[in-house]
Amino acid sequence: MRLLVTGGAGFIGSNFAHYILARYPDYHVRIIDKLTYAGNLENLASLRGNPRFEFVHGDICDAALADTVTPRGTDAVLNFAAESHVDRSILDPSEFARTNIMGTLSLLEAGRKNKVGRFVQISTDEVYGSLGPTGTFTEGSPLRPNSPYAASKAAADLLVRSYHRTYAFPGVVTRCSNNYGPFQFPEKLIPLLIANAMADLPLPMYGDGMHVRDWIHVRDHCAAVERVLHQGRPGEVYNIGARRETPNLEIARLILRLLDKPDSLISYVKDRPGHDRRYAIDPSKIESELGWRPETSFEEGIRGTIEWYRENREWMARVRSGEYLHYYRRMYEDRQRTLSELS
Ligand code: NAD
Ligand code: TYD
Repeated sequence: MRLLVTGGAGFIGSNFAHYILARYPDYHVRIIDKLTYAGNLENLASLRGNPRFEFVHGDICDAALADTVTPRGTDAVLNFAAESHVDRSILDPSEFARTNIMGTLSLLEAGRKNKVGRFVQISTDEVYGSLGPTGTFTEGSPLRPNSPYAASKAAADLLVRSYHRTYAFPGVVTRCSNNYGPFQFPEKLIPLLIANAMADLPLPMYGDGMHVRDWIHVRDHCAAVERVLHQGRPGEVYNIGARRETPNLEIARLILRLLDKPDSLISYVKDRPGHDRRYAIDPSKIESELGWRPETSFEEGIRGTIEWYRENREWMARVRSGEYLHYYRRMYEDRQRTLSELS
């Protein structure tokens, strides 16, 4: 298969590229990534030189480029590219609307014109809004996004739906819960807590720390996307989650315990505006239809993730200082393939 993976220098996209290239010796992966603050070529360093891997530096909103990177014969587009951090969307929603909505539209148009075999839109449980103390999100739950990030992802999901209905376009949407694992940018809860605990810095808890997220290891998410890529039905939505609801405070305490640090590092800070109280995914559909199951327990996954960040202190230091942005952009400038080579 020839795959276009957008946002492949980010957390989940890079994990997916590694996952798929390791499993399928005859697959070809082309990544397009704008290399925003969240995109890091270091996440793909071990793939450099692999003849089945190709990196294109560019913006998915660029319609001409989107067209060029999805030539006829592209078996699937997996759209991971997004502005992904809720707190940033609260500060400045416009980039979220641009990349998450207009970027998806530009890829859909390119995919429609060039007759891609499949389009997997990587979405999020946040499109459903917030739950009370009970209940779970199913694929039929109403879309009630509460942050500009979630609203922009919901809009993109609806565009994919409309392309399927209107043009019989082979689009399918996945909605996953909160991920953790290697290569996650340390502005998100789990890597932030690990990094701060390792450095004896305060662990910031928004509000009362009792907001609940449903956690899944990124490898399990990649395995679920792989199922959808191969077996998912066009026009359908698949929820992905590992049935592991946990309040933020419990995660902070677990990380502190595993790193042998005191609970006194926990520091309550002002809450996030519009902060969703609870997410919980019902993954029954992907389990029963596509036979997917998560394989990593939360405790095992958190231990492994802590280990990864311990072993990759330099990655963390470079990411936190912004150093990787300068170094890798410079490194890559003359290596990326030009548009004329691609077309
Ligand atoms: P991330 O922020 O780590 O990575 C996003 C990547 O997209 C970066 O490499 C960035 O450079 C790239 N990008 C941003 N704007 C771009 C543009 N205009 N053109 C090309 N590339 C661009 O995000 P992530 O955590 O890896 O999330 C990947 C996808 O999964 C997103 O669509 C997100 O909504 C979804 N998702 C994330 C989670 C989670 O817990 N992280 C959960 C469910 C769904
Ligand atoms: P985050 O990783 O930003 O994911 P999302 O908001 O998309 O679910 O946050 C996860 C949870 O952790 C969310 O309830 C907000 C909370 N949180 C904190 O309490 N402190 C922090 O410093 C961060 C980044 C998040």
